[in-house]
Amino acid sequence: MKNKTIEIKLQEWQYEELCESDRTLVDLAKEATFSSYAPYSKFSVGAALRLENGDVVKGCNNENAAYPVTLCAERTAIFSAQAQYPNVPIVELAVAARNVKGEFVVKPVSPCGSCRQVIAEQEYRYKRNIRVMMVGEEGILVAESVKDLLPLGFEEGDMK
Ligand code: THU
Repeated sequence: MKNKTIEIKLQEWQYEELCESDRTLVDLAKEATFSSYAPYSKFSVGAALRLENGDVVKGCNNENAAYPVTLCAERTAIFSAQAQYPNVPIVELAVAARNVKGEFVVKPVSPCGSCRQVIAEQEYRYKRNIRVMMVGEEGILVAESVKDLLPLGFEEGDMK
């Protein structure tokens, strides 16, 4: 038996430390929470992604009375971007959330497992990393690749 250790890397930033384009993406993710349709969880999530061509696409969670039909903010943004801009890679994505009291969350919100898998497919498809910014009032966690959020993720190559 051998033990194996996988290292992941994250950065923690304060909003004021971010460059202008990162601050804009964070602001747009926060703005997108106000488009959320979350009558069941009352947890309003917003995402904003930047494409390689510089355009930004927003997404928000859309819930459903049939609960599992709900789609997260990140996947809403990603699928919307790929529908509007076919074959344009995503370079970075920010996710923000407001809690049941309507306040922005203090701890950074991080993408669920399904969203991580979808972000991983985008990295695989375009052979480039996607920077993921997870927004909290106490700080913004940044992963340079979704591989830092989904180590040992399943991808096309695993089917060979
Ligand atoms: N949600 C997202 O939109 N993104 C995530 O990464 C985590 C969860 C949504 C789904 C559901 O509408 C609500 O948050 C509570 O789980």
